[in-house]
Amino acid sequence: MNLKGRNFLTLKDFTPEEITYLIDLSAEVKEKKKNGVPVDNYKGKNVALIFEKDSTRTRCAFEVAAHDMGMGTTYLGPTGSQMGKKESIEDTARVLGRMFDGIEYRGFGQEIVEELAKYAGVPVWNGLTNEYHPTQMLADMLTIRENFGTLKGLKLVYMGDARYNMGNSLMVACSKLGLDFVACTTEEYFPNADLVAQCQEYAKESGATITLTSDVKEGTKDADVIYTDVWVSMGEPDEVWEKRIKELSPYKVTKEVMANAKDSAIFLHCLPAFHDLKTKIGKEMGERFNIEDMEVTDEVFESEQSKVFDEAENRMHTIKAVMMATLGVQE
Ligand code: CP
Ligand code: NVA
Repeated sequence: MNLKGRNFLTLKDFTPEEITYLIDLSAEVKEKKKNGVPVDNYKGKNVALIFEKDSTRTRCAFEVAAHDMGMGTTYLGPTGSQMGKKESIEDTARVLGRMFDGIEYRGFGQEIVEELAKYAGVPVWNGLTNEYHPTQMLADMLTIRENFGTLKGLKLVYMGDARYNMGNSLMVACSKLGLDFVACTTEEYFPNADLVAQCQEYAKESGATITLTSDVKEGTKDADVIYTDVWVSMGEPDEVWEKRIKELSPYKVTKEVMANAKDSAIFLHCLPAFHDLKTKIGKEMGERFNIEDMEVTDEVFESEQSKVFDEAENRMHTIKAVMMATLGVQE
């Protein structure tokens, strides 16, 4: 399998075999890291990390992975570069492409990362847009495979706002890899019909099913994976919280939801999560709302079934695999 020179913008651009290869490579580099075997033969290469939105996991994963690989990194935060203000995306891409071997972008519309990729001349990696979060998908699929030994035939239920990056990306990943995908939410939050139709095509190939339902009992019954995300994403106005809580409260992940899934079911969340009042924003939210009204209860988040920190760790191994594969695997 040769992915050298490819961009990593959405899993829609990759075949099931290519995605599986990236998951296998992730497992391999994870094992090497655990055993102290270095994968550091990328010395002399440099990557640019553009973050127009904040990040803990994605930024750290790219930085640690790049440093492990022997590469240099330059972080360009939401302020401090000319991109999108004084300088167009196209010009920024052409400049960075002359200096760096690869570029990560986190920000707003998918069209921005597509534009960067069009002009950079080096691999561009999507570190989250409004529409897709493909590096997260590899970490999620690796975590699921570590728990069940397989992906095909498992039932993954996504609860919450399924129209945004996480719902979209999970539907693409599941339908490509043969997991039965359920979006369990109100109709208003169902994924976009065009994307559903496209994923139905992938599902025909992989044997997956796609179900959109507002019935929590039916939707989560016998699930292998229960997945959720924050109800208001980065970049969305604060005012939508009230509406989201009102509409999505029936779809929060509780112990009853987990009990309705299989006994072996796991809980995943891309993080960051609202489940307690320990954060600054959490405290402010707690003054406005009941924290128990958020996407997952503390009880589920802290339970044995919750694999969210394995999932977070896997961001680093999978991002390393993406950079290795697209920069060219060097043994
Ligand atoms: N899951 C995820 O992308 O987390 P960060 O926003 O911290 O990068
Ligand atoms: N949907 C969330 C995901 C964070 C990793 C957001 O876009 O803010």
